[in-house]
Amino acid sequence: MCNLLSSKEVLSFLIGFAISTLLVININNNYSIKNIQLEPVKNYENIMKKNMVNSFYKNSNESYESELADRLFNDIRVLCWVFTHPSNHKIKVPHVKKTWGHRCNKLLFMSIEKDPTNPDIIPILVPEGRSHLWNKTRLVMKYVYDNHFNDADWFMRADDDNFILMENLRYTLAQYNPETSLYIGHRFSVDYPQVREGYMAGGGHIFSKKALKKFVTIISPNTTLCDNNDGEADDLLVGQCLKKYAIFIDARDSKNQKQIFPVGVEEHLQHRAADFSYWYWTNLWRNVTQGGLDCCSDVYIGAHYVSPKEMYLLKYLVYNVHPFGLKKNITESLPRKLSLDEIIKASDAKSFSPNFRIHENVHNIDEDEKYTLNTA
Ligand SMILES: *[C@@H]1O[C@H](CO)[C@@H](O)[C@H](O)[C@H]1NC(C)=O
Ligand SMILES: *[C@@H]1O[C@H](CO)[C@@H](O)[C@H](O)[C@H]1NC(C)=O
Ligand SMILES: *[C@@H]1O[C@H](CO)[C@@H](O)[C@H](O)[C@H]1NC(C)=O
Ligand SMILES: *[C@@H]1O[C@H](CO)[C@@H](O)[C@H](O)[C@H]1NC(C)=O
Ligand SMILES: *[C@@H]1O[C@H](CO)[C@@H](O)[C@H](O)[C@H]1NC(C)=O
Repeated sequence: MCNLLSSKEVLSFLIGFAISTLLVININNNYSIKNIQLEPVKNYENIMKKNMVNSFYKNSNESYESELADRLFNDIRVLCWVFTHPSNHKIKVPHVKKTWGHRCNKLLFMSIEKDPTNPDIIPILVPEGRSHLWNKTRLVMKYVYDNHFNDADWFMRADDDNFILMENLRYTLAQYNPETSLYIGHRFSVDYPQVREGYMAGGGHIFSKKALKKFVTIISPNTTLCDNNDGEADDLLVGQCLKKYAIFIDARDSKNQKQIFPVGVEEHLQHRAADFSYWYWTNLWRNVTQGGLDCCSDVYIGAHYVSPKEMYLLKYLVYNVHPFGLKKNITESLPRKLSLDEIIKASDAKSFSPNFRIHENVHNIDEDEKYTLNTA
């Protein structure tokens, strides 16, 4: 590869490298948010420039990660807890770990049984069966809070048939402050009076640090706020419990295209691929273009119902394949930070679904969750 480079290319690489090194050293904090300091987006842009130069000269492979992704890995820490089941310990767990799970800052598999051959699996002792999902979810969230609260800023619940692109998740989370109570995912609007605000679908949703803390310490133990009877609809019940205590965010990019898919992405991409009378399409919080690439974000975060075989295919296509001559031009910068008002406004915006009706527009936001953006 190297002998193909002209001296002009080598020179511009060296200059780019020198400039970005100088700029990265000179770090100023442009955003000050109560309790946490956020790196200004500017510094990432310098790494991006350098990275763009590097990407033309290096083959990307698993051991070569870009400096930008490494930086986001350290700044936006995500703990992933993956729900699994004894029958999947051998056939799914290792594949989740190998294909995307190792990109989480902390990866926990939650099952109802211990597995002497796999120490990554944490037993949460509830009886077998779907009718105990709600108690399992509450115990898992308490376990994560009690044992790993300081290991991450964000906490993602996933299933063993999700495929998540952790880099894009971190990119998206860069807009938000983990000290604000946020609940992010695929937002459903269902016709149940107790969850008119909607809820996040089971496969792949994210709690900010503050939302996890509120859920475990204040909401879940209070039987007036949260259903104490065990049951099957754990995702819906999480939504019901959090409705006044977290801001609900439907994961969309700046073009309003979907980032988290509770069904396969393939159902969206091809015109008429899916059965549009299906419950899913009529209970979306925001409409999705049906068929064609406008459905789905280039900043895909995750999809559900992915088999281990498909996980390896996705991993290969996403992380290894580069169409020759079509290498993407890395010109995007990180999304800008959103103010609390902007986040609330987007969350309260009327849904296209007739099921959606915000109860009383209540957001119980504590004083320490509020923040200001200083963009000077
Ligand atoms: C991966 O990339 C690194 C850095 O460019 C290189 O040293 C290493 O040999 C590569 N590994 C493989 C298996 O290609
Ligand atoms: C439970 O929540 C209700 C409603 O917000 C509140 O009035 C009550 O004091 C809470 N109970 C406890 C034990 O905190
Ligand atoms: C579910 O959890 C609640 C709260 O801890 C408990 O009171 C109840 O007995 C549990 N139900 C079952 C079926 O284990
Ligand atoms: C949702 O989008 C589809 C096209 O993608 C359209 O046919 C349908 O009418 C839209 N529904 C609403 C309620 O806007
Ligand atoms: C990449 O983006 C830069 C800046 O927008 C532009 O000048 C350049 O022509 C682009 N290169 C390619 C190959 O598209």
